[in-house]
Amino acid sequence: MVKVQVLDKVFEPYLDAARIESGIHRIAAEINRDYAGKKPLFIAILNGSFMFAADLFKEISIDAEICFIKLASYKGTKSTGQVITAIGLDMDIHNRHVIIIEDIVDTGKTLSQFLPQLKHQQPASLELVVLLHKPDATEFPVDIRYLGFSIPNKFVVGYGLDYDGFGRNLPEIYRLLEE
Ligand code: IMP
Repeated sequence: MVKVQVLDKVFEPYLDAARIESGIHRIAAEINRDYAGKKPLFIAILNGSFMFAADLFKEISIDAEICFIKLASYKGTKSTGQVITAIGLDMDIHNRHVIIIEDIVDTGKTLSQFLPQLKHQQPASLELVVLLHKPDATEFPVDIRYLGFSIPNKFVVGYGLDYDGFGRNLPEIYRLLEE
């Protein structure tokens, strides 16, 4: 891997294909074991998680479904502040074993607002599978059941993750080069 430029910034190699693959392999094995016979429903959050979701789902060998949603935030009332809603969730999750697929947890704000809404629909269980977590950036703790990699608090791109919309097509993960 060599340095890449995305828009106005330079990024250095961080996680190569072999490491990503082995992380996914490990997580998939755990899920296949934990959810055998439970017919889980994976809900992948677009856009960032599309590559991770595809590679992970290929390694799921038990009966499972997957669907894709987008999260949108809008301004609520003074007391509710920013409200996050799911677009495209057309599956009934009541009594289902739900596994949310997310690319990265940074401050944790997005998921800590969204997960209670899902719990409201009374799934049989609700767990998170996350490729990357920046523990040092946590402001809103979320409980990650299956984690690929804990990473330092640095901006990353590639493998579905973007910088201002670009860089998602890089097959491996790069981090911002600080000069
Ligand atoms: P949080 O709500 O702060 O946890 O942010 C989660 C969202 O921020 C992710 O789903 C990403 O879309 C975006 N994000 C956070 N850190 C990065 C990064 O290093 N690279 C690309 N996107 C990021």
